[in-house]
Amino acid sequence: MTDLKVFLDVAIEAARSAGAIHLFYRDQDVGVASKSNFSDLVTVVDKKSEEKIREVILGHFPEHAILGEEMGQNREADFLWVVDPLDGTVNYAHGFPFSCVSIGLEIRGVRSVGVVFDANRNELFTAVRGQGAFLNGRRIAVSQTPELMSPALLATGFPYDVSTDSTNLEKLSRFLKLGLPVRRPGAAALDISYVACGRLDGFWEYKLNPWDMSAALLILEEAGGQFSDFSGQEYQYGQPLVISNGKIHPQMLEVLQ
Ligand code: IPD
Ligand code: CA
Ligand code: CA
Repeated sequence: MTDLKVFLDVAIEAARSAGAIHLFYRDQDVGVASKSNFSDLVTVVDKKSEEKIREVILGHFPEHAILGEEMGQNREADFLWVVDPLDGTVNYAHGFPFSCVSIGLEIRGVRSVGVVFDANRNELFTAVRGQGAFLNGRRIAVSQTPELMSPALLATGFPYDVSTDSTNLEKLSRFLKLGLPVRRPGAAALDISYVACGRLDGFWEYKLNPWDMSAALLILEEAGGQFSDFSGQEYQYGQPLVISNGKIHPQMLEVLQ
């Protein structure tokens, strides 16, 4: 059996190197450009971070493949690293300190290693399949919140085409009309990691990409959380995602359906 710890160490090295780039440029004038529309930003930091992550991973494992948001769309490989070099770019570009690096390793399609690093808070979320989830080396677990109306603290996010696709606005209003607190933190990998460590009880979002969630879904799973599509079926990339502490999952699904 492959010792996954070797891969975890490399993922951490890559994530910390990218995090150092985030901090270095944080208070400087980062070159900002728009991607798909005016609110979908990309900075030099996204690109420099992905370059660094590639250099570290391929330096150790030249035969592995990388699916990175900015530079590579390789999807088929036995060892596939799924990388978001800067999740929460809009936050980052505005100096709003909620952003992270996300690095997952999928081995023959199985999420096996996950690292999410928030350089703003020096918080490192890690997981190896079957070995638990950790925040800065301390074991984490999802919340014990028993019911949606306890009340649970929820979060969601919106894709960049929200001005033309308001599907999630309707779902959001359902939760708000129940009087529930709902946040929109703005970095999906960190949002999911916050459910994993019990700071949030549930989260949902449409149209996420694999790099937004590969690492964090493993961290969530290893922390005892649950995730599915909106009908409660096994999750496949591309579908709307709902995640929770498990206890409130059926109630979240009821609201979302
Ligand atoms: C975005 C963030 C955001 C989510 C968007 C993502 P990016 O990623 O995770 O929270 O709502 O759907 O695209 O562009 O900052 O890497
Ligand atoms: Ca992202
Ligand atoms: Ca990104």
